[in-house]
Amino acid sequence: MLKPEDVHYLEVQRLHLQTKLDASKTQEERNRLGQFATPPALAIEILERASMLLEGDRKQIHFLDPAFGTGAFYSALLKVFPTASIQAHGYDIDTHYGNPAQRLWRDTPLILTLGDFTQATPPQTEAERVNLLICNPPYVRHHHLPPVEKIQLQTRVQHMINIHLSGLTGLYGYFLLLGHAWLREGGLAGWLIPAEFMDVNYGVQLKHYLTTQVRLIEIQRFDTSISQFEDALVSSALVWFRKEHPSPHQEVSLRSGGTVSKPEIIKNVALSQLKPTIKWAALFTASHRSNPASSQRAPKIKLIDLFTIKRGIATGANRFFILTPEKISRYEIPHKFLQPILPSPRYIPSDEIEADQIGNPKLARRLFLLVCDQPEDRIRDRWPMLWAYLETGIQQGIHKRYLCRHRSPWYAQEHRPSAPFLFPYMGRRNANGDLPFRFILNHSKATAPNVYLMLYPKPTLAKAIQQHSALLESIWRGLNSISDEILLKQGRVYGGGLHKLEPCELANTSAERLAAYLPESVVNAPQQLPLFT
Ligand SMILES: C[S@@+](CC[C@H](N)C(=O)[O-])C[C@H]1O[C@@H](n2cnc3c(N)ncnc32)[C@H](O)[C@@H]1O
Repeated sequence: MLKPEDVHYLEVQRLHLQTKLDASKTQEERNRLGQFATPPALAIEILERASMLLEGDRKQIHFLDPAFGTGAFYSALLKVFPTASIQAHGYDIDTHYGNPAQRLWRDTPLILTLGDFTQATPPQTEAERVNLLICNPPYVRHHHLPPVEKIQLQTRVQHMINIHLSGLTGLYGYFLLLGHAWLREGGLAGWLIPAEFMDVNYGVQLKHYLTTQVRLIEIQRFDTSISQFEDALVSSALVWFRKEHPSPHQEVSLRSGGTVSKPEIIKNVALSQLKPTIKWAALFTASHRSNPASSQRAPKIKLIDLFTIKRGIATGANRFFILTPEKISRYEIPHKFLQPILPSPRYIPSDEIEADQIGNPKLARRLFLLVCDQPEDRIRDRWPMLWAYLETGIQQGIHKRYLCRHRSPWYAQEHRPSAPFLFPYMGRRNANGDLPFRFILNHSKATAPNVYLMLYPKPTLAKAIQQHSALLESIWRGLNSISDEILLKQGRVYGGGLHKLEPCELANTSAERLAAYLPESVVNAPQQLPLFT
C-alpha cells in the first residue's frame, strides 16, 4: 500500500517529467495529439468532486483514464482515495509520454496500455468495466483527423452506440461516446471537454447522448477569461454523468465561473430544457429559470429577414493591399484604383462614422484598399509606379498566398460595397465587463475588412430608407437595442473570453426588438413580399 508521502513524491516526479516531455515537443506536435496536461490543482478538484458524486460506490474504485498522458488524474486519484481500494487502467497512444509514465507508476495499481483508445476492445463483462472514468481527451479538431480515420471512427461509434457523429466533431467526441462501453451500469464519468459542443451544430449528437442515454448530473463551464490550459486556446466544460437511464423529471446542475468546488453560479434546470438542438450556453447565465415554452419560441422576425449579412472583405494580405496615404503618394497610385476601407474597430471610437464630402470616413486613421483588376501588361505600360508596387508584392511572395493565387489577376479584390451597418464580429469584454458587440452606423463609402460583418438592407428595407433617410438612425438604434443576452445566445465564447458571432449566427438573431423601430409596412413585408429572399 502506498503511503501519502510516496504519492506526494510520485507527483513531484510526474510534474518534472511533464515539463521535460512537453519541452521536447513542438507546439505543433502537441496540437496533433491534443497533448495539453490538466493542471494538478484542477485534477485534484475533479477527483474530489468525483468522490462526492460517487456516493456509496467508493469502497472499490475501478478507474479508467483513456488519454492518460503522464497521469494527472491518476495521481490525484491516489491522493483522494485510499490506495488499497484502487484498481486502475490507462491508455495513451504516444510512447513519448507513455513509456516514462509506465516507469513512473510501475509500483502502483495501474495497468497503462500504450495504444489507441479509439481502437481498443472494450471489456465484455460488467466485472471488468469501470465505475469511475475521468478523462481530458485530446482536443484534436476534425480537420486534423485524416478522412479515412474519421470514417473509421464514425463507423465504430455508430456500431457501438448507434449514434452517427457529424464529420465536424473533434476527436474528443469519439472518445466520449466510445467510453460508454467501458463504464459499468451506474458508473460515473467526468469528461473535461471543449465547452463549444454545447453551442455548435456538430454538438447535437453529443447532447442527444447526454440527455437520452445516460443520467446527466452536472456541467461546469469554466470562466472563459481563464483558459484551463495555459497553452491551449479553448474554454472547457466538465461534464459529469452516470451510466443509467435518465429520469424525465430529473434536474441537471449547470455551474459556471469560479472553481469546481466553488462555482460562482449554480442553476438547476429541468432535463427537458436541455434540448439537443438548442444552444445551452444561455441556460447557464439566464437570470431566472426560463419558461421553456417562451425561451425556445422561434422569433417572428430575424435579422436575416431584413439584411443580407456578409463578412467584410478578405484581401489575402492586408498589409499589402490596404494602403496609407503616405504609401499611395510614394507609389503614385491612381485614385481610381482606391476604395476607402475602415480600420480595425479599435480605431473607431464612436459607434457612428461620419463622412467627408466625397464619402471618405472622417477618422484619424485613413486607409484605402487597392482595387485594380487591369491586366499586368497594361499596368506595366500605363501606371509604372503601380507596377513597381505590385512587384514588391511579388518579391514578398504575396501572389502565392492562398487567396491571391486563386484570383485572376492575383491582385484583384472582390467587390464589396460599403454597408450602412457594421458589426465587429469578435472581441473581449472591456474593463467594465461590457460585451464587445456593437452596431456601427456608417455614413461613409468605405468598405470593411473581414473583422466586421456588413449588414446590407434587403430591398423593402432599402426602399424605405431611400424614402425616409431618418430611418437609418432608427434602425441603428433598434439594432443596438438587441440585448447582450440575445447576442450571447447566438454566438460562441472561446478560451481567454473571446466572443464571436459568425454571419449565419447574426442572421439568425431575433430582430423583434429592432422591429419596434421600423414602420409596420417593413416589419410585415417579409411574409408578404417576394423581395425578401
Ligand atoms: C489532453 S491530454 C491529457 C493527458 C492527461 N490525462 C492529463 O489530464 O494531463 C490527452 C492525451 O491523450 C493522448 N492521446 C491522443 N490520442 C490518443 C488516442 N487515440 N488514444 C489514446 N491516447 C491518445 C495524448 O498523447 C495525450 O497524452
